[in-house]
Amino acid sequence: MLTTIFTPFPYLETERLSLWQMELSDAPDILALRSDPRVNEYIDRKPTSSIEEAEAFIKLINSAMEKGESLFWAVADRQTNKFLGTICLWNIDHETDKVELGYELIYEAQGKGYMLEAVPKVIDFAWQRMGAKEIEAVIVEGNERSINLVDRLSFTFKNKDGNIMYYTLQRPS
Ligand SMILES: CC(C)(COP(=O)(O)OP(=O)(O)OC[C@H]1O[C@@H](n2cnc3c(N)ncnc32)[C@H](O)[C@@H]1OP(=O)(O)O)[C@@H](O)C(=O)NCCC(=O)NCCS
Repeated sequence: MLTTIFTPFPYLETERLSLWQMELSDAPDILALRSDPRVNEYIDRKPTSSIEEAEAFIKLINSAMEKGESLFWAVADRQTNKFLGTICLWNIDHETDKVELGYELIYEAQGKGYMLEAVPKVIDFAWQRMGAKEIEAVIVEGNERSINLVDRLSFTFKNKDGNIMYYTLQRPS
């Protein structure tokens, strides 16, 4: 059984970044991120279109975390606190101890190595604090930036179903 409820919220830090829990005041940043067609290109979701929708999303995320259904971090510049994106662990499978990894950066923050820096911290968290044994990344074919990221983090390609590709990382023994 994985550990999925953390109180207080597990704040994380890397050299350039801080990873914290979203609050309703982050709604304008969430709206900007999730309404940008450049960010949404390979993500199957309805674009967020209002502050109210962004607030509802943040409430949903925080309530899912209270129930232990997922973990969701805002990624920000450690010095300026500027919001850069999000990382989540979700689709938690207690039978196989597998979790799915999700991540996205505002367009202006891409190509700077931020996810390459933040995701390993979240991976360590999944192994050490949650007790996960496998992390899966589900990527739409053609999302080269996302494929490059998981390749650089040593995920291996598992299988393809239509245009959906499954990558996996196993906990080091
Ligand atoms: C997927 C996504 C997070 C990848 O973003 P990214 O910025 O390419 O990811 P990384 O953090 O791995 O950055 C690596 C890039 O930064 C560059 N870089 C610049 N400075 C760097 C530094 N200090 N350290 C490391 N890399 C650096 C690297 O060269 C690399 O660029 P390249 O791929 O052109 O060689 C981003 O494209 C995104 O948010 N896409 C939209 C949402 C999405 O599709 N999410 C994934 C769904 S599966």
